[in-house]
Amino acid sequence: MGRATKVVLAYSGGVDTSVCIPYLKQEWGVEEVITFAADLGQGDELEPIRLKALEAGASQSLVGDLIKPFIEEFAFPAIRANALYEGRYPLSTALARPLIARRLVEVAREVGADAVAHGCTGKGNDQVRFDVAIASLAPDLKVLTPAREWGMSREETIAYGERFGMPSPVSKKSPYSIDLNLLGRSIEAGPLEDPMVAPPEEVFAMTRSVDQTPNDAEEIEIQFEGGNPVAINGKRLEPVSLIREANRLAGTHGIGRLDMIENRVVGIKSREIYETPGLLLLIRAHQELESLTLAADVLRTKRQLEMQWADLVYQGLWFGPLKDALDGFMDRTQVHVNGVVRLKLHKGNATVTGRASTDNSLYIPEMASYGSEDKFDHRAAEGFIYVWGLPTRLWAAKHRR
Ligand code: ARG
Repeated sequence: MGRATKVVLAYSGGVDTSVCIPYLKQEWGVEEVITFAADLGQGDELEPIRLKALEAGASQSLVGDLIKPFIEEFAFPAIRANALYEGRYPLSTALARPLIARRLVEVAREVGADAVAHGCTGKGNDQVRFDVAIASLAPDLKVLTPAREWGMSREETIAYGERFGMPSPVSKKSPYSIDLNLLGRSIEAGPLEDPMVAPPEEVFAMTRSVDQTPNDAEEIEIQFEGGNPVAINGKRLEPVSLIREANRLAGTHGIGRLDMIENRVVGIKSREIYETPGLLLLIRAHQELESLTLAADVLRTKRQLEMQWADLVYQGLWFGPLKDALDGFMDRTQVHVNGVVRLKLHKGNATVTGRASTDNSLYIPEMASYGSEDKFDHRAAEGFIYVWGLPTRLWAAKHRR
């Protein structure tokens, strides 16, 4: 008797998920393994991956195009929330996990599976994101996690695969662990495990090295409606094309690389290299438009809640109650975030040089101006400051020596 009869396995084509196929069948007595590979715009050829799963013993190998929902339902909300984990990482990997989990559950229903499986190890964040998402969406489905339990080293895993006729992977030569999708790439492991080792140029694929970028700056304009980016340089683009174009522009100018020590959900620090060119560019522009269109108190409150939003997405709580409640707040604020931001892209920097909003700018020239059009009542400041400073003056009078 196995742990499950029919299992839908989240499949990437990598070593761990490939070895999961024979492992589930041989060691855990699973009768049928159906693989599901998600197209998230990573640019991999999915047909070879699909065939690879069949060669490894999958009874069915499915591929699903999730690019559009990935961008519209996951990336755009993250842009609206200016989501940056620990102030820096725009969650390119984290955002994909609840979507893959959701589709995995749907596939399990479609094929009548009694379990789903993934190849995450026991010390990453992705296992947390998958497990929590699946359990929230389908509490009756078992979640099988062979790679968390088999205790094999990478070499042993490869050897196990070879026993079942799996060719030893080319990636044996690449020391890195890479996750990628249309939003970006995450690169870990190998020499990067030493936080003092600089990332070699070979780990990057979406961004140019600053010494390879154009010498001339490029000015671009990004237009937003309801907090969503809708056009670049006056050209309206569908969400997916817009992200591609933002990646191209930022990548060309070497914008969007990160090198950071990050605090994982499981309590350890890890060294992460990311390149997320378009997402970082769009968040920068979006923040700028908010500074023009949101009231001061809303903006300040939002900045705090953005941190919480990023934390909970990172921590795998996408389908939780706080996320739901915060989305209500975020969405309400975004009604006013309409307008355009101009940026200068040059040598790894995206510098804002202008912002405008026809209907929602809270920048009032007659209030701000020092010229003759000034309508601000300067004399009103005196009474305001008297009251504003009263508690400080009273306190200071008591404590003055
Ligand atoms: N540390 C990043 C995150 O938690 C990247 C994870 C990369 N995942 C992977 N399976 N290689 O979002």
